[in-house]
Amino acid sequence: MLTKPEDAASTLSRQFRTARPAVAIVGATGAVGAELLQCLERRNFPLASLRLLASARSAGKTLTFAGEQIVVEELTEASFEGIDLALFSAGSGTSKHYADIAVKAGAIVVDNSSAFRMYPDVPLIVPEVNGAALATHRGIIANPNCVAAIATVALAPLHSAHPIRRLNIATYQSASGAGAAAMEELRESTAAYLNGESYQPRVLPHPYAFNFFSHNADVDQESGYNGEELKVIAETRRILGADELPVGITCIRVPVLRAHGMAITVTFDEAVTPEAARSLLTDAPGLKLVDDRAANRFPMPSEASGEDDVLVGRIRRDLGDPSGRSIALFVVGDQLLKGAALNAVQIAEALLVR
Ligand code: A2P
Repeated sequence: MLTKPEDAASTLSRQFRTARPAVAIVGATGAVGAELLQCLERRNFPLASLRLLASARSAGKTLTFAGEQIVVEELTEASFEGIDLALFSAGSGTSKHYADIAVKAGAIVVDNSSAFRMYPDVPLIVPEVNGAALATHRGIIANPNCVAAIATVALAPLHSAHPIRRLNIATYQSASGAGAAAMEELRESTAAYLNGESYQPRVLPHPYAFNFFSHNADVDQESGYNGEELKVIAETRRILGADELPVGITCIRVPVLRAHGMAITVTFDEAVTPEAARSLLTDAPGLKLVDDRAANRFPMPSEASGEDDVLVGRIRRDLGDPSGRSIALFVVGDQLLKGAALNAVQIAEALLVR
């Protein structure tokens, strides 16, 4: 159960209670967990201590942080004693059970799961876009769906200059969004394919090597939209502060390890030229322009992987809308970084006592 605003408000500070917070990572052995460790280390996050938590399966394993070996502990209800910041990335069920326990123990939770993203009293934050909403948190802050986080970094500079009236998105999503086991399945099934061996998928529902398929989230039988698509619609609206924004979307899983691509058509309520859009996206926070028509060079997963910045390019007029009000873009971002761990650590950085 989520902490009720009136319970939490009296006891919680909006920032950490100390300049050097004690940090716990829930899901430290997962794909996002590994990136959380790396982001904290390379960004010199000023932590006093680090506790690594995972399921009983991983208890006793060691992981390296800043040259030190840290033993992974089993997550229990007592895990949050003395913790100031709990970074959760172990699925919705784990967050629903333990986030409130962590808050009651005095921690601020940054949750990478979808458990609380649409709770009105839990801010859903992309720091470059709606960082100001962080001030409303009551102990839990939600880290968005990876497509929503990456897309809004590119959409926000446009939206603040010219209100967006409609979006159409087609995604090309990597294995990492389905976790470390799906990344391993992509490697193994590709090797098997190249060796002419058969391979039985275990994590994803369809053959992954040299194939792509509709996103593996459950499909709503009435609308035909899958759970990923519905999350992106709801979260993009919430992050941009555009509750009624019409969004059409198709999410596809492609055989790429860790960067998501998205073709986005943006319709404004007035004509916007590609030059004007390009100028708004140049030097915008968290974005890097890769838009070289002469060299036919645009954002690619191979260049976005391991990069903090989201890449944006192929900025052109949408010929499907003769009114001139629509612009087409191609956006690629590292799913494990801006789509997950980096965004979570940036949220935590904004809560540091300075
Ligand atoms: P473990 O490695 O012990 O299973 P990914 O998204 O890459 O699959 O990673 C999921 C992360 O969440 C892993 O660190 C995993 O730990 C952790 N996890 C999954 N279920 C639980 C649970 N019930 N309690 C604690 N950690 C969990």
